[in-house]
Amino acid sequence: LFAGQSEFVKGVVAMSGLPPADRIEVCFAGRSNVGKSTLINALTGRKGLARASNTPGRTQEINFFTIGLEHYLVDLPGYGYANAPLPVVEKWQRLLKQYLSGRQTLRRAFVLIDTRHGVKSVDEEIMSLLDSAAVTFQVVMTKADKLPEKEREKVLAQVREKLSAHPAAYPELVLTSSEKGDGIATLRAIIANLT
Ligand code: GTP
Ligand code: MG
Repeated sequence: LFAGQSEFVKGVVAMSGLPPADRIEVCFAGRSNVGKSTLINALTGRKGLARASNTPGRTQEINFFTIGLEHYLVDLPGYGYANAPLPVVEKWQRLLKQYLSGRQTLRRAFVLIDTRHGVKSVDEEIMSLLDSAAVTFQVVMTKADKLPEKEREKVLAQVREKLSAHPAAYPELVLTSSEKGDGIATLRAIIANLT
């Protein structure tokens, strides 16, 4: 699947603008700056495909990318905090929630958690929303390169503990570093196996 080209399709600012629901869809959700756009670039092997930046609030639309003939990768605006005026942020958050709970072809949501920070209350809110919508979600730990290996286990234990309360959670975590390439092949295989 990931041997093929990935292309940007469109950025969406309202549910009415969503592309036709004719592909298997996976999306990347998480707090602002957690590394969603960077992860999409690592997965597709195209550095500038999804725009990433050190400023939280970089991605402001729901961005659709094709991969192969049958899948969409969907980059979402971050939640939690962002460098943008409150009414603007509230508008993205509304759209984000509508998308996560109302997209028929959404097969799996990847919820990204910074390996240094663990699960925050805003993450739990999104997880509960996914439970209610019966969208299977899987946690992807990001920026693993930023935390020494011996400090990771404590965070991972916290994440597993939090996940046990969520019926829609897929129990297996994926530890990644978009910087070093860790976990990227694993995540590609998971996506390629979704039908
Ligand atoms: P928003 O669009 O604002 O919600 O953020 P995002 O989740 O898309 O984050 P983005 O991909 O823009 O990355 C934020 C910052 O984290 C950038 O400076 C990235 O270079 C950095 N970053 C992302 N992934 C990694 C990683 O695996 N390791 C390291 N060291 N830095 C990373
Ligand atoms: Mg982004």
